[in-house]
Amino acid sequence: MLTKEQNERITQTGPDTPMGQMLRRYWHPIAPSGELNEDNPTKEVRLLSEDLVLFRSAAGKIGLIEPSCAHRKANLSYGIPEPEGIRCPYHGWLYDVNGQCVDQPSEPEGSRFKDKVKLKAYRVEELAGLIFAYMGPEPAPILPKWDALTWESAWRDVYYCVLPCNWVQCQENSLDPVHFEWLHRYWGTWIMSRTGSPEQRETWNRQTLPRGRHQLKVGFERFKYGIIKRRLMEGETEEDEWWRIGHPILFPNTLRVGEAHPTEAGYLHAFQFRVPIDDTHTLHIVQRNFVPRVGQTYPAQDVIPWEERPTFDEHGKPRNDWVVAQDQTAWIAQGAISDRSTEALGVTDVGIIMFRRMIEEQIQIVQDGGDPINVHRVDEGPIPLPQEHSYWPGESETGGPFKDQPVGKPDIVAILSPEAGVQL
Ligand code: FES
Ligand SMILES: [Fe+2]
Repeated sequence: MLTKEQNERITQTGPDTPMGQMLRRYWHPIAPSGELNEDNPTKEVRLLSEDLVLFRSAAGKIGLIEPSCAHRKANLSYGIPEPEGIRCPYHGWLYDVNGQCVDQPSEPEGSRFKDKVKLKAYRVEELAGLIFAYMGPEPAPILPKWDALTWESAWRDVYYCVLPCNWVQCQENSLDPVHFEWLHRYWGTWIMSRTGSPEQRETWNRQTLPRGRHQLKVGFERFKYGIIKRRLMEGETEEDEWWRIGHPILFPNTLRVGEAHPTEAGYLHAFQFRVPIDDTHTLHIVQRNFVPRVGQTYPAQDVIPWEERPTFDEHGKPRNDWVVAQDQTAWIAQGAISDRSTEALGVTDVGIIMFRRMIEEQIQIVQDGGDPINVHRVDEGPIPLPQEHSYWPGESETGGPFKDQPVGKPDIVAILSPEAGVQL
């Protein structure tokens, strides 16, 4: 439980708030690369409580600039892409990807007025089907190249949705492994038994029930980039990868995870980015990297496919017919900003407490002038991340660089009831 003041502090996203300033030390994905093209060259976006326009110039360069033209404030999402940047639809001022005005066609010949006109602009980089933005102070850190984002043999896609809730409750979900037994195995199965076709139910049971086995204990430890989460599943020993390897929660707002399917899961390395739009909205991006089986190759991808999956169904209810949608439903169900001043945390919430402490500590580091955890200043190439029961490219055994890792030693462990609470 937090005080009202603490809750307010960790859920603020504005540029003048301690939390907003800390969040601005990180690169955040803002849209799929494939969403911006010749037919759709601009997008109005909002990131960390700031409205912006994202555009792709006719030369293929991406810009992220303040939305209103400096002249008489027309929104540049209506602009025309040109090789040098984006031209305002109203009187034709042209801005490059750095926000610099480079043409004012109606000003007198030889005027240097344009040199004095510059819109606020932020750095962007494209990687693995996503456009990432950095809105913090210079010098900018390096965009971390997590291993799976760099694999040439992988096949990728991206989907996203906008959620009407604060991002912290989305991320806390990743420090709460016990929810899998209830939200997915029990509630999800109950939903599926009422609404799914026999085929959907069969698929659901095959994919989800094994991963939703009872957890005997859950453990968490700090590592270089955030927190590693481990679970000891019923019927397994500590040697099993669920406990021995685990998977990471990357500070501040990313989850690296496989998928529920017991046979195909090992070939998927996904990232879930909980991007703060503002205090009460989150852009939830799922970026997936499918690893080819040994001997298999995927076709080359010119454009990484993407979709916006609607959060709500035709009746205005949150969708809940797949695992991530059930998570989203739970986050929305906690309210726009969950009231942590009245919650009642139990033993299984130790990971959440660890994460909240880490947030407070990192806010303080930024306020003291330092770099918070998981800010990268040196490009060390692809950064390996653990992920249990997963295949790395070209390998026929799971574990990749972590396959011989000894049993993990979490900083904190929660022991659960030996009996499964879920009865199906
Ligand atoms: S408002 Fe943009 S050029 Fe005039
Ligand atoms: Fe979940």
